[in-house]
Amino acid sequence: MAVKVKTGIYGLNALTNGGFNAHSVTVVIGPAGAGKTTFATQFLRRGLEIGQEAIFVSLDENKEQIIRDAVEMGWEDILDYLKNDMLVFIDASGREFAEFIRKELPGFVEKWKGADARIAIDPLTPVIWSTPERYRQRELIGYLFRQLKKLGTVVVTLEEHGPPDLSSPELVIPIYLADNVIHLRYRPEDPNTQRKLKVVKTRSSKHSELTHEYRIVRGIGIVVMRHGYTPRQTREVSHRLKRELLRRIEGFPPVVREQIAKALDLITDDDLEGVELDELVDSIFEEYL
Ligand SMILES: Nc1ncnc2c1ncn2[C@@H]1O[C@H](COP(=O)(O)OP(=O)(O)OP(=O)(O)O)[C@@H](O)[C@H]1O
Ligand SMILES: [Mg+2]
Repeated sequence: MAVKVKTGIYGLNALTNGGFNAHSVTVVIGPAGAGKTTFATQFLRRGLEIGQEAIFVSLDENKEQIIRDAVEMGWEDILDYLKNDMLVFIDASGREFAEFIRKELPGFVEKWKGADARIAIDPLTPVIWSTPERYRQRELIGYLFRQLKKLGTVVVTLEEHGPPDLSSPELVIPIYLADNVIHLRYRPEDPNTQRKLKVVKTRSSKHSELTHEYRIVRGIGIVVMRHGYTPRQTREVSHRLKRELLRRIEGFPPVVREQIAKALDLITDDDLEGVELDELVDSIFEEYL
């Protein structure tokens, strides 16, 4: 199983089967005020706490503003990490950073090779806008993600300007290229608004499919409510499935039986949530008949 990185976002690890996979890219999408910068800072800070180096690429607000906000949040230790160079800031415009990716990123990656850092880009949107041609966008972002993964675990934020349905053209490419996608929904114009988080995808890991409320709390940061989501690691149901299926396929060649038994050993009861067992037994039987 892949090594998991604790996200630092309270409640999120439980929804992503233990956190993000090490050396993955997570895209966090949300409108203004959703908490993207808070998410990025909180993720980096969690790594700093355990001795990982952190790189914050800011393409929007200046470094001073982000640090001020972090201190305001109660995260004064950010100042110490900056002083001892554990936390590095890169301040650039979208165009400058696109240039950096094309020309300087290979050298940068070479220098940091073998690192196990945390990297945040907040937000990536100006880089996408500075590269209008879709094909070039895909190339540039794909290249950026592949290179950064060599350095560590990455969080990239994206602004959402359209309706909160992830359909906007500027979101499509990064959503495809990312390993994990998290959607922050927030409508400040609605007085009864609630902040809601949805894990849209996590590559090679399972995740909650529910929509979870979250809050931003001074001193703590983002807190996500589980709403009863607790993956069941038990194997009561999966063992019953295995028993019934193996009985059913008794006459099958041993190789096939072994293969099926092996696959079934990986399944926990949570994986079978909502699955009709008898129907599944029938379907597998029919497939190999
Ligand atoms: N110190 C704090 N205490 C409590 N809540 C805070 C604090 N700082 C920020 N917040 C909350 O977080 C919200 C914005 O967070 P953040 O700046 O991370 O959003 P964002 O998605 O990055 O927004 P933008 O797209 O404008 O950059 C604020 O509107 C506020 O509700
Ligand atoms: Mg922000």
